[in-house]
Amino acid sequence: MSETKRRLTGIKPTGVPHIGNYFASIKPFLHPEPGVESLYFIANYHSLTTQREGGPLLHSTYDVAATLLALGIDLDHTVLFRQTDVPEVAELSWILSCFTGMGLLERAHAYKDAVTKGRDLHAGLFTYPVLMAADILLYDIDEVPVGSDQKQHVEIARDIAGSFNHAYGQEIFKLPNPKIDETVMIIPGLDGKKMSKSYGNVIGIFEEEKSLKKKIMAIPTDSTPLEEPKRVEGSTIFSLFELFGTDDAILDFKKRMNQGGMGWGHAKVELFECMRDYFSPYRQHYETLMASRSEIDRVLLEGAERARAMARPKLQAVRQVVGFSS
Ligand code: TRP
Repeated sequence: MSETKRRLTGIKPTGVPHIGNYFASIKPFLHPEPGVESLYFIANYHSLTTQREGGPLLHSTYDVAATLLALGIDLDHTVLFRQTDVPEVAELSWILSCFTGMGLLERAHAYKDAVTKGRDLHAGLFTYPVLMAADILLYDIDEVPVGSDQKQHVEIARDIAGSFNHAYGQEIFKLPNPKIDETVMIIPGLDGKKMSKSYGNVIGIFEEEKSLKKKIMAIPTDSTPLEEPKRVEGSTIFSLFELFGTDDAILDFKKRMNQGGMGWGHAKVELFECMRDYFSPYRQHYETLMASRSEIDRVLLEGAERARAMARPKLQAVRQVVGFSS
């Protein structure tokens, strides 16, 4: 029997789940490959580092969960849970912090970035990677698929695991590997820059139809007259169309734009329809879930029970080796 591989990913609930999130951290995880056991959690402890309003944090937590469920995340092969429903992670985080050199955290890019930008610093921003290490090490994870911005955090988790194991001369923690998917492209936002909440250029996965249309119609394009042939490469409209259209539709779209006689206004309407139709089969389910949080809670709590069944024995082993219990 071949061994199953355990993979984990976390998504921070901040703002609406948008199509940048969809392609980077949702779509690749909806249907795990055979032989892979996935853990997928909503990192609401981590959101507290930047979100100081309770209502929006809570709303976003449900929004992420409803989005994943509506899009059909495979619950037979994925343990889906909310980070705060597994309090073991907070205890482990404290224990791990005692095995984390200050220098390791001082070198973290995300932290250095916050310093450079003159953000209000607090200890949570500094120890963010320790909590992230606890997320990973609690479950004997083999692989953590991450974008390049998070790779260093997984390496820090590896270092912390190594320090702990070394201190007690035992392999308590499995060393996780970051897995960077080089093929994940950068999703352009409304202004052509990378789609990101911090740039205010996002399109929600379940953006309302009216608002979706308005946003797409406002995307800047060049002023080539309607009759003239248009180059589509490098345009935001085409880059987005390429993500959502079928291969045939993309070819056809490009051909008609290249021929001339089709204006950007028309192109935008086609993009709008294409994006609307892409997510429309899932929208009703999403709205039903969002209307009553009880079904989401039920699924998340069930996931948390499965996660805790893995977390408890690990934490128990840690408590024993450090001398908290016999
Ligand atoms: N830090 C990740 C992000 O901002 C979210 C996250 C928290 C995470 N804990 C994790 C990702 C553990 C992978 C593994 O995107």
